[in-house]
Amino acid sequence: MRLDVVTIFPEYLEPLNVSLVGKARTRGLLDVGVHDLRDWTHDRHNTVDDTPYGGGPGMVMKTEPWGEALDEVLADGYEAGAGAPALVVPTPSGRPFTQELAVELSSRPWLVFTPARYEGIDRRVIDEYATRMPVYEVSIGDYVLAGGEAAVLVITEAVARLLPGVLGNAESHRDDSFAPGAMANLLEGPVHTKPPVWRGRGIPEVLLSGHHGKIARWRRDEALRRTTAHRPDLIERTAPEAFDKKDREM
Ligand code: ADE
Repeated sequence: MRLDVVTIFPEYLEPLNVSLVGKARTRGLLDVGVHDLRDWTHDRHNTVDDTPYGGGPGMVMKTEPWGEALDEVLADGYEAGAGAPALVVPTPSGRPFTQELAVELSSRPWLVFTPARYEGIDRRVIDEYATRMPVYEVSIGDYVLAGGEAAVLVITEAVARLLPGVLGNAESHRDDSFAPGAMANLLEGPVHTKPPVWRGRGIPEVLLSGHHGKIARWRRDEALRRTTAHRPDLIERTAPEAFDKKDREM
């Protein structure tokens, strides 16, 4: 998969060199390009913003630098054979970022991210590229960040760990909170490792039993308890058939 990010803070994306995403890059599973939007300005002050039409507070990111930047980044990617691009526009007014959307994005060969600062990007830029490729306007939560760069890091990490070969164990995401299947709409319950006793606190007996059926049942009960406590909305929006008889006894 190829990822490009156009930003006025390229250094903000340095975490893409580290940990899971960094390792995926060095292993050749992910090709990442970070580009400075100001490279496509032509004035002395490298201006990327201007006052909003219609008035109001804040500044709006200008069409021209974004247009030139995206044209060049897209041309380079096409030349490198990156496949069909999709634009990912982080914005608090986008559709909610979910595990389901992460799975959808992870199936695309090439994502181009346009994190904005200020009040956002002139709408015409998004409308222009939407005539040429899918555009995902995505919000990572109901709060307003100072810019979209942190959202790019969040989306990239959620997507990269789903790419084939990135996680050591393909089953690692089977039991993830929100993973499709039996755990859909359930939050993952607690986990434990050695030592067996720490500060007088032991391990739930069932986890030491070696009884896989009982362990699976315990994990599901814990997931149901946790989801009921932290996200009752997830339980409410789940079809009743998704719960078995034992679930309902909880
Ligand atoms: N930019 C500012 N706030 C954001 C949010 N909540 N999600 C995505 N991009 C953003």
